[in-house]
Amino acid sequence: ICRAISPDDLSGQRVLVTLGPTRERFDPVRFWSNPSTGRMGAALATAAWLRGAEVTVVAGPCSVALPPGVRRVDVQTALEMDSACRDLWPSMDVGCCTAAVADFRPIAFGDAKMKKDALGASGLVVSFDENPDILAGLGTLKRPDQRLIGFAAESHDLAANAQGKMQRKHLDMIVANLVNVPGSGFASGTNQVRVFDRCGGDESWPQLDKTEVAWRIWDHLAAI
Ligand code: CTP
Ligand code: CA
Repeated sequence: ICRAISPDDLSGQRVLVTLGPTRERFDPVRFWSNPSTGRMGAALATAAWLRGAEVTVVAGPCSVALPPGVRRVDVQTALEMDSACRDLWPSMDVGCCTAAVADFRPIAFGDAKMKKDALGASGLVVSFDENPDILAGLGTLKRPDQRLIGFAAESHDLAANAQGKMQRKHLDMIVANLVNVPGSGFASGTNQVRVFDRCGGDESWPQLDKTEVAWRIWDHLAAI
């Protein structure tokens, strides 16, 4: 499929997508992160671009390929992702936060590498600070003409947790998946999701390729 022959229903829409993990530095050679590959976000950005949108991606460290027409801002940490998104958000029509943002960042050890032989009897003890919730921040700043999509990774109570996040973060739609299901979530080419929207919609989609999930998400946003 190429841009010339795909639908152009997102033409004129400025779309912001966050994707990938964030890396939270502990010392010059170590960080705290997670296995996100950025594939779901790349599929959403690519589908939006194919459908005519002007797409900006804020990407944590990952190696996904994006069409050359998509603008890409690379960041490492949650604080950097937060600041890039806040700068971009006022000029966007739609935001879609797929990034697996690290909820916590280690309180940095310092500029010198932590040496293993300096450890005491209690082993390595690391303290963490909480990172800003980027999606919730965009939700607070959201204008009535803007639309915001979030994701939710849950191990239990999926509906209650996902709907709670949708309300709390002022979302129009939330795409939830169970993290302990094979063929879903991190580092998988497929995803099995349940989609809630602010109009009361609740749909369970079958296990689908992430590209197919992305196309359906844009269809669903248009339908609500
Ligand atoms: N998110 C974000 N910034 C964060 C944490 C999460 O933008 N610091 C976004 C994610 O990109 C996702 C949504 O919030 O779209 C939900 O992420 P999730 O990790 O499922 O939920 P949290 O709100 O972080 O709560 P918890 O991890 O405790 O379930
Ligand atoms: Ca989280």
